Amino acid sequence: MKILVTGGAGFIGSHTCVELLEAGHDIVVVDNLVNSSRKAIEAVQGITGRKFPFYEYDLLDKAACKEIFEQNTIDAVIHFAGLKAVGESVEKPLLYYRNNLGSTLNLLELMRDYSVNSIVFSSSATVYGAEASIPYVESMPRGKATSPYGASKQMIEQMLEDQVVAEAGFSAVLLRYFNPIGAHESGEIGEDPNGIPNNLLPYVAQVASGKLEQIGVFGNDYPTRDGTGVRDYIHVTDLARGHVVALEKKAAQPGVHLYNLGAGRGYSVLEVVDAFSTAVGRKLPYKIMPRRAGDLPEYYADPVKAKNELGWQSEYDIGRMCADTWRWQQKHPNGFEEE
Ligand code: NAD
Ligand code: WQD
Repeated sequence: MKILVTGGAGFIGSHTCVELLEAGHDIVVVDNLVNSSRKAIEAVQGITGRKFPFYEYDLLDKAACKEIFEQNTIDAVIHFAGLKAVGESVEKPLLYYRNNLGSTLNLLELMRDYSVNSIVFSSSATVYGAEASIPYVESMPRGKATSPYGASKQMIEQMLEDQVVAEAGFSAVLLRYFNPIGAHESGEIGEDPNGIPNNLLPYVAQVASGKLEQIGVFGNDYPTRDGTGVRDYIHVTDLARGHVVALEKKAAQPGVHLYNLGAGRGYSVLEVVDAFSTAVGRKLPYKIMPRRAGDLPEYYADPVKAKNELGWQSEYDIGRMCADTWRWQQKHPNGFEEE
């Protein structure tokens, strides 16, 4: 299949490009590099030994993106492109709605105009909302969004569901990711946040490398086994492979196909710090801080549907996730910036 990967220079997109190419698919990538680097594209080509077209276009520029559909016969789209910082979305909701919804509308209109009938969308566990019971199961309704970012994911899920009703033959795979971490085993691609990281793993990695002084643990008084927040961390390569199987099994089946992509078990913040300390070979310093506003105590996936219907489950454990993150951090201490 020839797959258009939007946001393919990003963290999850670049890893998925590697897995698609290694599974024998052809890809075309579009990314405006607002949160990524052209070097990720070069690294994907280096890892796989394969070249592919890359368009540095903004999906909000529909006229430019039309060229991609004119110049390539696309069989299916994997849609990663979007802004994803939860806190920033609270400060700049219009930016998030404009970018995430506007991009998706342009993409769906182009798909309609060029008769491309399959899309796989990067959704999120956040669509279950704050009140959902754990583990999260796909049969649960979407809850009340906890941020404009989360609301944009819910709205896009709805758009895709409506498009399935309206367009005969349309297939929409909604993949709800839990907490993707890790990096490609080569250490040549990985998560490359701008400035001080908001998320746990990149923060811990930068403490390990000496860029940051100590880990701040946001709260140790949650009703969890050690009082710190519990999340379902999943290796980004496992996640990427989930996209390949979802596409291969569901792209040609009209309808809405909804799957959690998680490991199905949670780790606490202190367990993650321990696992990373083991990967590094020394205890990493941390300090207990107040809770972070908006954080939930604990959630993880029920991963059974993906296992039964796609034959997919995560393979890599937390030790491997930390070891791969650490390899990427050591090889590229400044991410894709000049070292
Ligand atoms: P990322 O920021 O690394 O990748 C997103 C890519 O989209 C970036 O390369 C960015 O430059 C590009 N982009 C953004 N707006 C664009 C536009 N208008 N036109 C073209 N390109 C644009 O993020 P990621 O972690 O790889 O996430 C990929 C997708 O998965 C996102 O939609 C995100 O919301 C979703 N997701 C991520 C997580 C996570 O924890 N990383 C969890 C759940 C869902
Ligand atoms: C994990 C745990 C923190 C940083 C976010 C989005 C979510 C999804 C994935 C896109 C929590 C604790 C963190 C730190 C800490 N993205 N923590 N110190 O918040 O679970 O999920 O990314 O859809 O929507 O909200 O991820 O990595 O920020 O936090 O103690 O410096 O680590 O409190 O318990 P989160 P995270």
